[in-house]
Amino acid sequence: MIRQITVTAAVLAFLSAPVAAQEMEVMEIEDTDFSFEGPFGTFDQMQLQRGLQVYTEVCSACHGMKQVRIGELAEEGGPALPEDQVRAYAANLTAIDRDTGEERSATPADKFPANTGAGAPDLSLMAKARSAFHGPYGLGINQLFKGIGGPEYIHAILTKYTGETKEEAGETFYQNHAFPTGWIKMPPPLTEDLVTYQDGTPATVEQMSEDVSAFLMWAAEPKMMERKRAGFVAVLFLGLISVLLYLTNKRIWAPYKGKN
Ligand code: HEC
Repeated sequence: MIRQITVTAAVLAFLSAPVAAQEMEVMEIEDTDFSFEGPFGTFDQMQLQRGLQVYTEVCSACHGMKQVRIGELAEEGGPALPEDQVRAYAANLTAIDRDTGEERSATPADKFPANTGAGAPDLSLMAKARSAFHGPYGLGINQLFKGIGGPEYIHAILTKYTGETKEEAGETFYQNHAFPTGWIKMPPPLTEDLVTYQDGTPATVEQMSEDVSAFLMWAAEPKMMERKRAGFVAVLFLGLISVLLYLTNKRIWAPYKGKN
């Protein structure tokens, strides 16, 4: 039995090693310290607002975010924009009316528009659909402390262009060391000072990329802070209950223990 397990483990290790090495060669994804990582991490409200600005002014030209309700922007724990700003933001977007089927300006109750014109994937859940860290296999250790790596992946995609391009089947591909195939159809979307941040933060490519990655993490999981808080309380209660049960158990058996 033990030998069987050892052999299986050896075979597995042998099989998975070359795959891991191959992946590492193409994909260069580094860990970034985002404020929302770890069991107690929280979103940085100012960063989310900057990320929203990058998304709105740059990414939304090609990408949609059709699963995120615009009104979420006002919610605590997110960008937390004032209600009137959210209404003004929504009014700049269009939505398809459910009753009439016609285009009208959006309200906070609508979702962000879809956008498939450029053949770009929807970004609503991108930060959770891609991941970079798995940690010691199956243990989830890395996820707990470094996050799932989705924002790191997006950050890497935005910053790992080499400047090389190639034409294939009438389409232009851009060399990008973070993309699994090494060549992506998205032209490098960020350049220095592309946006002017309202809070005066210098808009370097690195900064914009981190901000929009954080924003997309929020978009994919707007209730993350609530979830962590609830999880912490649950663990606290379980700990307390364990102590109480232990003491109860001791007490129940006390009369019978150590008598003989
Ligand atoms: C000029 C249009 C355009 C702009 C602007 C643009 N993208 Fe893209 N993006 C694309 C296209 C097209 C693809 C699909 C690429 C492919 O599959 O080769 C893509 C793919 C992606 C992917 C998915 C990569 C994957 O693993 O499938 C991410 C993430 C992404 N874009 C993020 C962004 C962000 C963030 C911004 C804003 C800073 C942005 N994009 C701006 C066109 C664009």
